[in-house]
Amino acid sequence: MPSTDRSQTAPEHVAIIMDGNGRWATARGRPRLFGHQAGARRVSEIVEACPDLGVRYLTIFAFSTENWKRTQAEVTGLMTLFRRYILKEAQRLLSKRVRVRFIGDRDRLDPKLVKLMDDLENLTKDNDDVHLTIALNYGGRDEVTRATRRLAREVAAGRIDPEEVDAETLGRFLDTHTLPDPDLVIRTSGEARISNFLLWQSAYSEYEFIDTLWPDFTAERFAEVLAGFGKRERRYGAVLG
Ligand code: FPP
Repeated sequence: MPSTDRSQTAPEHVAIIMDGNGRWATARGRPRLFGHQAGARRVSEIVEACPDLGVRYLTIFAFSTENWKRTQAEVTGLMTLFRRYILKEAQRLLSKRVRVRFIGDRDRLDPKLVKLMDDLENLTKDNDDVHLTIALNYGGRDEVTRATRRLAREVAAGRIDPEEVDAETLGRFLDTHTLPDPDLVIRTSGEARISNFLLWQSAYSEYEFIDTLWPDFTAERFAEVLAGFGKRERRYGAVLG
């Protein structure tokens, strides 16, 4: 009898590059921000689908270190959207037992937004059903660079022996040090690249590049992608019998 328990084959940690908001809006003759707003509603739907689908960790790419190159209007619009999302969703995330974390460099973000991010992390810190990590002003190279700088300080101070530095040591300095590596990375909108997302952590992740634009990515579509993951054989560089 086929198992109906999806959690048996579900990836524990799914990371998503939410791409295609701009094209979705343009196709409707609307400004790009309209697509980002629709994308934000999809975030809530996908987060809430996680428990039933057996996904314990969800990490989403909301704003990259390269996204500052967009027009001032789009950057400001996105920052406003993040602020509103936190204010609107905080209580719901708390009651749905979602623990929220943010990764990325907070130094370039508006201190008022950083305060909301800190508050949401604190508010949800005892939740354990779903771990939602939002990458905001995040870049994989930037993260590894910041981690290396902190590690170098520890070495310079004599607290870490350089001969003992290995991958696990560096991992402890990454923004994601409390998270497992992603099992599956999904990118929507038909583009097949990783755009500086979780470079270190996705060394052995499976990838799914799907054509759906992010605002059209429903919980049903998410379930289909996860079902495909359950059929994959992961070898981690080894030959399995
Ligand atoms: C990429 O699509 C998407 C972004 C740079 C922003 C992602 C943001 C959201 C989904 C909105 C809300 C997020 C949260 C956490 C509330 P794009 O604009 O590059 O699309 P395009 O490639 O079609 O132009």
